Formats: sequence, structure tokens, C-alpha cells
Amino acid sequence: MKLEGFLIRPVRYEDLDEVIEINLKTLPENYSRFFYEELYKRFPKTFLVAEVEGRIGGYVMCRIERCLSKFSKLRFVKSCHVVSIAVLEEYRRRGIATAMLKEALRNSMTEYGATEGFLEVRVTNIPAINLYRKLGFRIVDRIRGYYLDGEDAYIMAMPLNQTGV
Ligand code: ACO
Ligand code: ZN
Repeated sequence: MKLEGFLIRPVRYEDLDEVIEINLKTLPENYSRFFYEELYKRFPKTFLVAEVEGRIGGYVMCRIERCLSKFSKLRFVKSCHVVSIAVLEEYRRRGIATAMLKEALRNSMTEYGATEGFLEVRVTNIPAINLYRKLGFRIVDRIRGYYLDGEDAYIMAMPLNQTGV
């Protein structure tokens, strides 16, 4: 998909170093190289990058999980867990995260049969919370001390049958 000077496409193996670098620059939640490789191998259709000015400007990576519905604790669903999303500071506020997340969620439905999406986000991360709200995610829970530094997380979730995603 080509949009306003950036291109959203599936990650390639050779992009992983750049993705890891963006994660280290932008988030305190970091992962081993093995973790990135696992998500790339197992869920390639929901591991996307944004190409901007000939480099990787952002990424989103997800894991498809069978878990209890965030909306009715009585049934199991296939859910798209948005594990991590980030955009380099110089490319923010251009709609890149929105475009990546929409495409990852769409692919999670069409390629893996997911019917819900969910994620954890720091309760003070207003930019990210706004982004998720705008896409249709709602706060469904709060987990005390979820992060290593003691900050709480919101769990945000949305059903994936909505038009527009
Ligand atoms: N302040 C307030 N609202 C914001 C901000 C901000 N700084 N940035 C984005 N938003 C909201 C706005 O509603 C925006 O729509 P608008 O521009 O029309 O007002 C909407 O989000 C969509 O913005 P995008 O341009 O699509 O988002 P962007 O490409 O800038 O990326 C992101 C947003 C990923 C949160 C970016 O700021 C970032 O990389 N932050 C650091 C990493 C991070 O916090 N990642 C999320 C962690 S939680 C997790 O990964 C599951
Ligand atoms: Zn998570």
C-alpha cells in the first residue's frame, strides 16, 4: 500500500536489525533477537514495517493467540495481540502507525482468522492510547505494576468485525 510518502509492507528477514534498532530507540520494552525471529516466522502477515525515505521508519508486530474473549469471559477466541508498535520520532504524526495497525489487524482476520485485537499500553502513554482509541480499541482492564518500573498497564481491546479495519 502506497500512502503519502510511505509504504507499508511485510517485514523481511534482513529488516530485523533495523526493527530492533527502532525498538531500542523508542521503547523501554525490549526483546531478544530470538523473539523477533519467532514472530517473523510464525506470524509474518502481521509483522509489518513502514518504508520511508529508503529506510525502515516504523514497525508493528503481533502474535495470534487463543484466549478468553476480552468482552465475554465465557468464550475462547482467536485474538491478535499487538505486541509492539513504534515509529521513529522524525516520522510521527503522518498516519504511519494508523496505517500499519489497520493493515496488521485486517491481515490477522483474513490470514489467521482473528476476531478480536488487544494490547497492553502504559497508562501515561497518551499518544498511543489516542491512536488505539481512534482505531476502535477500548480500555477493558487495568493491570497494576505491569511494567518493570512499576507502571500500570491498560488492556485495550476491540472486536475485529468492524468496518474500517
Ligand atoms: N499526542 C497525542 N495524540 C497522538 C500523538 C501525540 N504525540 N501521536 C499520535 N496521536 C494520536 C492522534 O490521535 C493521531 O491522530 P491525528 O494525528 O489525526 O491527531 C493518532 O494517534 C494517529 O497518529 P499516527 O500518525 O498514526 O501515529 P504515529 O505514526 O505518530 O505513531 C506511536 C504513534 C506509535 C504511538 C508513536 O508515537 C511512537 O512510536 N511512540 C513511541 C513508542 C510507543 O509508545 N509505542 C506504543 C507502545 S504500546 C504497544 O506497543 C502495544
Ligand atoms: Zn502484550
